Amino acid sequence: MKTILFDKNSSLEQAAEIIKNGGLVAFPTETVYGLGANALDASAAEKTYKAKGRPSDNPLIIHLASADDVEKYAYVNETFNEIAKLFMPGPITVVLPKKEIIPKTVTGGLDTVAVRIPSNETARKLISLAGVPISAPSANISGRPSCTSFDHVVEDMYGRIDGIIDGGDSAIGLESTIVIPCDGMHLKLLRPGGITVEMLCDAGFTVEIDKVVTQKLSDNERPLAPGMKYRHYSPRAKVVLLEGNEEKIKEFLYSKANENDTAVILYNEELDHAGKNTVYIGSKDDEKTQAKLLFSLLRSFDANKDIKTVYARVPSTKKLGLAIYNRLVKAAGYTVIEL
Ligand code: TXA
Ligand code: MG
Repeated sequence: MKTILFDKNSSLEQAAEIIKNGGLVAFPTETVYGLGANALDASAAEKTYKAKGRPSDNPLIIHLASADDVEKYAYVNETFNEIAKLFMPGPITVVLPKKEIIPKTVTGGLDTVAVRIPSNETARKLISLAGVPISAPSANISGRPSCTSFDHVVEDMYGRIDGIIDGGDSAIGLESTIVIPCDGMHLKLLRPGGITVEMLCDAGFTVEIDKVVTQKLSDNERPLAPGMKYRHYSPRAKVVLLEGNEEKIKEFLYSKANENDTAVILYNEELDHAGKNTVYIGSKDDEKTQAKLLFSLLRSFDANKDIKTVYARVPSTKKLGLAIYNRLVKAAGYTVIEL
């Protein structure tokens, strides 16, 4: 398949037209790049699953230009309105009972639909021009880290989809926060992201963090967000996390930094300890930069076939740290060494 590459100066009309007519176009959002399709078209959803190599029981998020449009596709409630007022447009997705117009192929067979209003200007323009809700999973091949740059999308999707829009690097770099509104101001958190638990609590919500965010489910447990059960975010190399005594962790990481088949992820404060395959994720207390760089670092290990193991610290689970923790622990398949 020929993939049209739209640069930053291209008009978005052609891309919107492709989506309206059942094609697939990857586009930038403030979280990660999405693989966009017409959310009202079941066959476009099938193409999406195929292009990603994704199991079709893993539902897609639908993207709308305005929170006022949500009631066309889902049954909204007071809790949703409150979230919308405070956090939309932005990096939060809300799971609601779906209306008939959204095909079940899009929702992986579920009676609910996940909705999100991105804040990225290109994404918003594209949705408005297409005139339909745009379903979009992250634009990576299933299992790989999500795409946070145009180059990542080209690497994964060139030749598999109709178009890719260049929108530069993703501002946040991790996928949206996913919540299910429960009674009153109570929310269940299915995936941590740019809207943090602390932000939700400060706004008056109570938040229950679903087990799937921090722990491995046993084989017979079914997560509320079907996607959370799949292997995710993993480079080819094995990722191993370290926790415990900070001095021992340093000693361990610095010694591993000089082995040929090992990569380590360090903070910018540790530039003196660079080894052969050392990468830097930002300053120790700069979670925003860490979130922004994580996926591209995980992807970078695939370029060097010699690297067999990647070591990193277990991050703090406060604020944006919880989202970084969640992605890293999944990339590591929950392998954590206590030092
Ligand atoms: O930031 C994001 O959310 C990005 C950008 C492109 O918007 N999209 C994204 O989509 O991360 P995806 O498909 O990679 O992840 C969507 C997650 C999956 O874990 C899926 O199972 C869950 O959302 N999900 C979607 N619809 C759901 C539903 N009705 N109920 C529960 N979970 C749902
Ligand atoms: Mg994804």
